[in-house]
Amino acid sequence: MCELSLNDYINEQCQLVDAALDSLLPAEDESPETIHQAMRYSIFAGGKRMRPVLCLAAAEACDGLAVNALVPACAVEMMHTYSLIHDDLPAMDNDDLRRGKPTSHKVYGEGIAILAGDALLTEAFAVIAQVDDTERYTVRDYVKELAATGGSKMLIGGQVLDLEGEKKGLTAPDIRAVYEGKTAALLTASLRLGAMSANATEAQLEAITEFGYNLGLAFQIIDDILDLTASTEELGKTAGKDLDAQKSTYPALVGIEQARIEAKLRTQAAMDALQAFTPEKRARLEEIADYLLNRKY
Ligand code: IPE
Ligand code: IPE
Ligand code: MG
Ligand code: MG
Ligand code: MG
Repeated sequence: MCELSLNDYINEQCQLVDAALDSLLPAEDESPETIHQAMRYSIFAGGKRMRPVLCLAAAEACDGLAVNALVPACAVEMMHTYSLIHDDLPAMDNDDLRRGKPTSHKVYGEGIAILAGDALLTEAFAVIAQVDDTERYTVRDYVKELAATGGSKMLIGGQVLDLEGEKKGLTAPDIRAVYEGKTAALLTASLRLGAMSANATEAQLEAITEFGYNLGLAFQIIDDILDLTASTEELGKTAGKDLDAQKSTYPALVGIEQARIEAKLRTQAAMDALQAFTPEKRARLEEIADYLLNRKY
């Protein structure tokens, strides 16, 4: 249905995003060099770039141009990368490997890693402030969206529930609340910001939001399954961490088989939410949802 294969599409969009990130971030030799090197180290370590790709694809689904969604796409990748740097700190998940490389604090020390996360989060807001208004959405709407997403009721809130859920054996609804905050919120915002750059209608934005919510839940279930089933080499991050830390995850609660069924149902629910779009307009987002369900890392 789509002209380009998904693989080629993702590669093309990632190249656009990488070039934009490169031009938006302070140069490595800008003083103080250490912090700018650390910011770039984590951003260009080799992430999948799924949030920016979803941002661009949502813009296209809403009849817009990917190029007009590049600024929010970079902002969400900066916020995401900050969240990973902090997630890996010894005080949180204590991880040595991320995106196939030693974590920020292993290379630069904890102090600089904390600051690199802080700087990327701050930079995300400097970047989102560069968006152009459309007929329906102003810069203020984008900033509010990003702030709410990264705040204590969403991403941070989810991370808090995740930490507090260690060794607790949370119930399914409690685990869902963790996933909604730490994962689904930013995936949803990535899609919504892309849709907003395309001047999406209220109905389009609603459909995109429902898609993002279900996709986000499926995404974290798969992340938790992969933590149990994939190797460190495949993942580019240490496998088996969740069991070690006694994290409350969906597969830990109901088993891998049942968790996979739930991820499939969520992916289907995500796709169902896109019925408001023509088959041609929704095809790419459906492909991405299917790809994320079946990913190996
Ligand atoms: C990892 O996200 C953190 C989660 C929310 C599970 P990704 O799997 O998208 O990580 P990168 O960006 O590809 O490294
Ligand atoms: C992290 O979830 C989500 C955020 C960073 C907000 P995980 O702790 O499961 O992510 P990984 O497995 O370390 O990538
Ligand atoms: Mg974590
Ligand atoms: Mg982690
Ligand atoms: Mg994980």
